[in-house]
Amino acid sequence: MTKKNLHLSSLQLFLASLFLVFSMMSASAQEDLTTSDGEPAVPVEATTDAGTVGNATQGEALFKANCAACHKLYKRATGPALFQVSQRHDREWLYEWIKNSAALIASGDPEAVAIYNEYNQSNMNAFPQLSNSDIDDILAYTDTEPPVPTAAVAGVDEVAGGGASSETTNNIVLGVLALVLIILIVVLFAVNATLKRFAAANGIQTEFEEDKPARTPIWKAFVQNQFLILVTAIFLLLASAYFVYGAFMSVGVDQGYAPVQPIHYSHRIHAGVSQIECKYCHSSARESKHSGIPSLNVCMNCHKSIAEVSDDTYAEGMEEYGVDYNKEIQKLYAATGWSEAEQAYTGEEEPVRWVRIHNLPDLAYFNHAQHVTAGNIDCQTCHGPVEEMEIMYQYSPLTMGWCINCHRETNVDLDNGYYEEIHKELSEKRGGRQLTIADLGGLECGKCHY
Ligand code: HEC
Ligand code: HEC
Ligand code: HEC
Ligand code: HEC
Ligand code: HEC
Ligand code: HEC
Repeated sequence: MTKKNLHLSSLQLFLASLFLVFSMMSASAQEDLTTSDGEPAVPVEATTDAGTVGNATQGEALFKANCAACHKLYKRATGPALFQVSQRHDREWLYEWIKNSAALIASGDPEAVAIYNEYNQSNMNAFPQLSNSDIDDILAYTDTEPPVPTAAVAGVDEVAGGGASSETTNNIVLGVLALVLIILIVVLFAVNATLKRFAAANGIQTEFEEDKPARTPIWKAFVQNQFLILVTAIFLLLASAYFVYGAFMSVGVDQGYAPVQPIHYSHRIHAGVSQIECKYCHSSARESKHSGIPSLNVCMNCHKSIAEVSDDTYAEGMEEYGVDYNKEIQKLYAATGWSEAEQAYTGEEEPVRWVRIHNLPDLAYFNHAQHVTAGNIDCQTCHGPVEEMEIMYQYSPLTMGWCINCHRETNVDLDNGYYEEIHKELSEKRGGRQLTIADLGGLECGKCHY
């Protein structure tokens, strides 16, 4: 009797748990359905004249070709910012205005006259060639929400609901899996107990009970085996020595150091995409010990007229790096006291304090001109792929071993006019064999140490 009951109860447990899992799964599926099926019907209605009419991609092309000269999306230019302009005016009115704004103003339309006066009676071009559906496309583009910065995504998305729903489904799936595991364990225990009882009731001896006293636990066996202990001890000692050595050797080595700078300045954009030469900004690298960081005047040579990055660059910054590039340029203006509206310096300066990245200890002497001009070494050999760095970081370890290795391995550039005489003499002495920097004295302590 008891056996049967027990057997049944574990089966029942199993069935009940299966039922639970499936009902939870279908419940969560239903939740998903209601959010993706029921709700959107409402917002779509509400934004018909904003979101759904027209093709934003085609609109973007039309906007760039016809309107971008005078209009920006989020900022006043020659004309007003056009973001969500379709919500400020009637659609019919917009068709008329865009096709021929002068005619609409001449007709005395109060809305048109007001805008015209607000913008100092400057004229917008007429676009009779645009059809109503072209205009719908443009408006679909101007209604598109700006990309959200990735850095803030976690917070914003939860509010917006986009990331939240996928996160909750993830959580639900994880929860269900955990539940299934727990249930399996419980079921196994139940089955085990049932079987044991079944065996006992039938007078069968289970093996485990007999074996138990003879078995020693693994840890005891281990403690008794001296050879194993010796091997383990040696292994542990070696491993910790390895890590301690690594830790000591990395003291003072700042490879990969990439501090947050006061202005998010991208070498990728300037030295990479825009292909500005390193020496345009780091002009002293060729003649002197230091490369130096450019003064902000150098930046303003270009940035007096570049107040904003292109829309594509802007979107890339927001999506891939979580940076609002235009805000960073505003920081440059704040630092130099440049007033965009008046196109003049106000005199209120606040110098930018760049955080120094590469820094040898005072006991070592390193000279840029010697390497860049005399040695003819590319900046990238030591500083890495700078033109790909969104944020500058220390690429090389800058240890003594690093300097010495290169001096041992690098052959002297014998075509170099700078030391021509010396090189010639030396190479004759060595019977024409290639000279390394070490042969020049590049391993002498005094050359690098004061
Ligand atoms: C030559 C410059 C110029 C071009 C090109 C231009 N606009 Fe305009 N736009 C203006 C100006 C200036 C105003 C402000 C009213 C005025 O002074 O006429 C304006 C106003 C507007 C308005 C009213 C905005 C509001 O906030 O009320 C809309 C809509 C508009 N333009 C759409 C367009 C579209 C769409 C295009 C491209 C197909 C375009 N504009 C091309 C200069 C231009
Ligand atoms: C438009 C100006 C500009 C150009 C072009 C430029 N840089 Fe820079 N560079 C800067 C500024 C500003 C900083 C300081 C901010 C930073 O560290 O990101 C800097 C920092 C650096 C640093 C780190 C300095 C430190 O603190 O240790 C290195 C190395 C460097 N640049 C190398 C290069 C190389 C190599 C190139 C050419 C591929 C290059 N730069 C092109 C402006 C420029
Ligand atoms: C030779 C011209 C030139 C010089 C010099 C220059 N920039 Fe730029 N900068 C640009 C251009 C072009 C862009 C925008 C690229 C785009 O729209 O894709 C830009 C974009 C930027 C941005 C936004 C993207 C980013 O890097 O975060 C900042 C900030 C910026 N510059 C700061 C500086 C600073 C600081 C200096 C001086 C050290 C400087 N720029 C010197 C041409 C220049
Ligand atoms: C042989 C390796 C090597 C080469 C090549 C090299 N650098 Fe450096 N750079 C260094 C070292 C090492 C430091 C750290 C110097 C110090 O702390 O005194 C440094 C520091 C800098 C700094 C920080 C400011 C300073 O001068 O201390 C800038 C900026 C810089 N380098 C730019 C450049 C540019 C641009 C080039 C190419 C024209 C270049 N470097 C080529 C090794 C190199
Ligand atoms: C990428 C290879 C490279 C690295 C890394 C490098 N050097 Fe050099 N170094 C050279 C070359 C090439 C020359 C020879 C220039 C010439 O022809 O005079 C040189 C020359 C020198 C000299 C002059 C030697 C002499 O006899 O006149 C000194 C000092 C020096 N380097 C210091 C350093 C220090 C300090 C470091 C590390 C922080 C370093 N170098 C890292 C390649 C390198
Ligand atoms: C090619 C250049 C170069 C030569 C040659 C050179 N050193 Fe160095 N040395 C360095 C640099 C760079 C550092 C700093 C490295 C660091 O911070 O990790 C350094 C660090 C040291 C340090 C460690 C100081 C500390 O605080 O950690 C000692 C000691 C030292 N050097 C001794 C010597 C002696 C002795 C010789 C001659 C046999 C020599 N060096 C030759 C470049 C050189």
